[in-house]
Amino acid sequence: REIISSKRQRTFAMVKPDAVHRLGEVIDVIQSRNFEVSQMKMVQLTRAQAGLFYREHEGRPFFEPLLDYVTSGPVVAMELITTNAVQRWRETLGPTDAELARREAPDTIRAKFGKDKQSNAAHGSDSDVAATREIEFFFPSSKVHDIMVPQTTARF
Ligand code: PPS
Repeated sequence: REIISSKRQRTFAMVKPDAVHRLGEVIDVIQSRNFEVSQMKMVQLTRAQAGLFYREHEGRPFFEPLLDYVTSGPVVAMELITTNAVQRWRETLGPTDAELARREAPDTIRAKFGKDKQSNAAHGSDSDVAATREIEFFFPSSKVHDIMVPQTTARF
């Protein structure tokens, strides 16, 4: 008989500046859909960091506005784990354009928390290769202890 195996997979999610004020509701959706939040951090990206993160879109007409937007406030980066995580997170997000999402996929994160094509609440990796790159970008594996030490030795 056929054995259908579904493998646990990682993906990268980023709550964008326009949706950070509704972070709790976004996390409720994430957890209700059985994603495991395995790493999470809130950061203010510099323009250079944003340019690197979105480098595949360099030269597109929306590139500079996209960098303005994604550096307009903090973002919340997460590593999510579940079976078939890349595809399932894209489905949970809905179409890139939040207005289209409200018409065609109302039960999605972008329909609920996004505004338009730019302010679309959250990002999701579009492939396994992209997920690996984006997770490493925000959560560099070799730096875990470098980040932890200054926190634990802080004096104030
Ligand atoms: S593509 O061509 O499929 O790769 O592009 P798409 O997935 O539609 O969009 C890639 C990211 O760019 C953002 N975007 C925009 N920002 C501002 N203005 C306009 N017109 C615009 N079009 C697309 C879009 O929100 C995508 O962001 P991420 O974070 O990847 O979801």
